[in-house]
Amino acid sequence: DLNIKTNEKNHLTIGGADVCDIVKEFGTPLYVIDENRIRENYQRFYNAFSKYYKDFKVFYACKANTNLAVMSILKDEGCCIDTVSPGEVYTCKKLGFSSDKILFTGNNIKNEEMKFVADEDVVLNIDSMSALKRLAEVINPNGTKISFRVNPMVEAGHHKHCITGGVMAKFGIMETEAVEAYKLAKKLGFNPVGMHSHIGSGILDPEPFKLAIKSTMDIAGKVHKEADIDFEFIDFGGGIGIPYTPDEKLLDIDNFAKENVELFKQKLQEYDMKEPTLYLEPGRYIVGDASVLLVSVNSVKQSYRKFIGTDAGFNTLLRPTMYGSYHHIVLANKMNEDPVEKVDVAGNVCESGDLFARDRFLPKIHEGDILGILNAGAYGFTMASNYNSRPLPAEVLISNGKPILVREEEKFDDLFNKQIIPDHLKN
Ligand code: LLP
Repeated sequence: DLNIKTNEKNHLTIGGADVCDIVKEFGTPLYVIDENRIRENYQRFYNAFSKYYKDFKVFYACKANTNLAVMSILKDEGCCIDTVSPGEVYTCKKLGFSSDKILFTGNNIKNEEMKFVADEDVVLNIDSMSALKRLAEVINPNGTKISFRVNPMVEAGHHKHCITGGVMAKFGIMETEAVEAYKLAKKLGFNPVGMHSHIGSGILDPEPFKLAIKSTMDIAGKVHKEADIDFEFIDFGGGIGIPYTPDEKLLDIDNFAKENVELFKQKLQEYDMKEPTLYLEPGRYIVGDASVLLVSVNSVKQSYRKFIGTDAGFNTLLRPTMYGSYHHIVLANKMNEDPVEKVDVAGNVCESGDLFARDRFLPKIHEGDILGILNAGAYGFTMASNYNSRPLPAEVLISNGKPILVREEEKFDDLFNKQIIPDHLKN
């Protein structure tokens, strides 16, 4: 169920707007974001969990999409933000998120960066014993609230690059060092109040989440007992997938919330713990299906295979090349046409791996047609680059059916305006 909408002209629409009109006004390649869909996704997620657990907060993992309009929509919804870099913390602060609405889950962060985050009064999910000790060197712990990221030893994710638990993952502290870590944090003068885990990304199967809740809570229970910690919050991260192919289904979020909250409460009881605030950090679930990447067909070529050449590439949307990810592609200006042949949809980057799809069954496509690459809202623009000296594309927000430019496309000068030519090389 990909939630594809069309109008009487057989054009793809997003947020009620006709993508062909949008392309006439703003050109391609173009990311188009549906404000309403972001709000719906957030509310569906928030309502599902808060129905079963009152003390619940959503920390949107903004690495999925840091567009300022997107983050402002979520701010308006009352959402909190999970950040992974000082730059993301800075962005949240600029947008007016208060410190208690920001969480930092960085990895391999240098001392000055940890200090920057702590000085902003943002709680850090500490990723290693080393990070704990180094943080104590650069700030005065003095009761600073912190949390640890633990490795729940559950492996899940849509690709091996997106699995963050288990023995191969670089994230978190081991179960065996958890008690010691919380004790040391106290000894150093910190106030360790939270526990965090995150198993991976792009998961549609509910089972791994249950396993992760169980194992994280077993660690939390042990820490509660042996290090005498009363948790203010427990955070099970993000990772909830969305359908990318026509046969995948969005998981039943109400049932998902019900079962996971039940499990969580059982574990709290088992270990005789007070009810902490429950945090979750969805990224993809909130923004993934709220955006489409529109591209134009530049070239149709019959070579040894049939190639549909577009004006975007893996510099614009990296996921198909990086993970072999499937993104559904539609002929946006002729939505009524049936598939007739298998083609490769390629980008304009000078690399053979620059393909949006291989052997995709699509209608007859001509030069000048518009393709919609769906579900581009999460890890789309944020993973785009200037590779091949391509300026980053524009972004448009659809609000109440009307398109609003929310990011200008880069100009050629943006490609090098931070570079410095040494004097001796200037003619
Ligand atoms: N929390 C933490 C600590 C994370 O590392 C992540 C994602 C999330 C939350 C949000 O996960 P989500 O709900 O979006 O699955 N670039 C990859 C995904 C990388 C995810 C990294 N961490 C992709 O395009 O599939």
